Amino acid sequence: MRTRFIVGNWKMNKTASEATAFVRRLAQQVTDLAGIQVGLTPPFTALQAVREALGPAPLFLLGAQNLYWEEKGAFTGEVSGAMLKDLGCQFVLVGHSERRQYFGDQDAWTNKKVLAAIRHGLEPILCVGETLQDRDAGNTDLVIQRQLRAGLAGIEARALGTMTIAYEPVWAIGTGRAASSEQAVPVHRVIRRTIDELSGSNTGRHVRILYGGSVTPQNIADFLISEEIDGALVGGACLDPVSFATLLKVALGSSPSTT
Ligand code: 13P
Repeated sequence: MRTRFIVGNWKMNKTASEATAFVRRLAQQVTDLAGIQVGLTPPFTALQAVREALGPAPLFLLGAQNLYWEEKGAFTGEVSGAMLKDLGCQFVLVGHSERRQYFGDQDAWTNKKVLAAIRHGLEPILCVGETLQDRDAGNTDLVIQRQLRAGLAGIEARALGTMTIAYEPVWAIGTGRAASSEQAVPVHRVIRRTIDELSGSNTGRHVRILYGGSVTPQNIADFLISEEIDGALVGGACLDPVSFATLLKVALGSSPSTT
């Protein structure tokens, strides 16, 4: 049984004080998650504030948007897995397309980051996704397979089954043009098949796969209706507490169709 997971990725938004106010308002709106997991990834500078605002019995999981793979040392501007763990992070995004596009994160780096996260007891969420150019050229599956094979290299078969992957088509991020579930579901299946290949068994069915790209309170149910889609990675629609709470309430009320 794969537990549903909705993650709000704040990207470079909210100061620490804004983060505190956000968490207080969100907590007023959402008091019970009825078995689904919900995570927040504030910027590094707001992690401590969010942790404190969540209190001693946090309803939401705390995650970071990135990490560096080295343990410590002369790496100006970087943050290690140990630092995130010490701040109470439970998970970390790796290889988000904005990291790949603007900060040079390459497949080989995503692999080092995934391995570093695991080493520090953080759940990595490996983000994969094709550009519009890739999709138009018919290369979506190839790109996804390449990102997975490289990003997950060296992870033992059993651990592969506990992974969470986020499928975020680059053309759907921040554009208001979400993929349809008819577009997303086949890619989720490619992801499961690729994990099967990598693990040498049918491990893919255990892997949690989130869809990301222009998810809103209005369209989240269209994704969650599919058994293939285990949750969402939400950008713009997670920044306002009322909008995010509405999205979570829709997610809580929608169950996958078995047909
Ligand atoms: P949007 O929901 O703003 O399209 O962003 C998606 C995303 O990149 C989440 O990581």
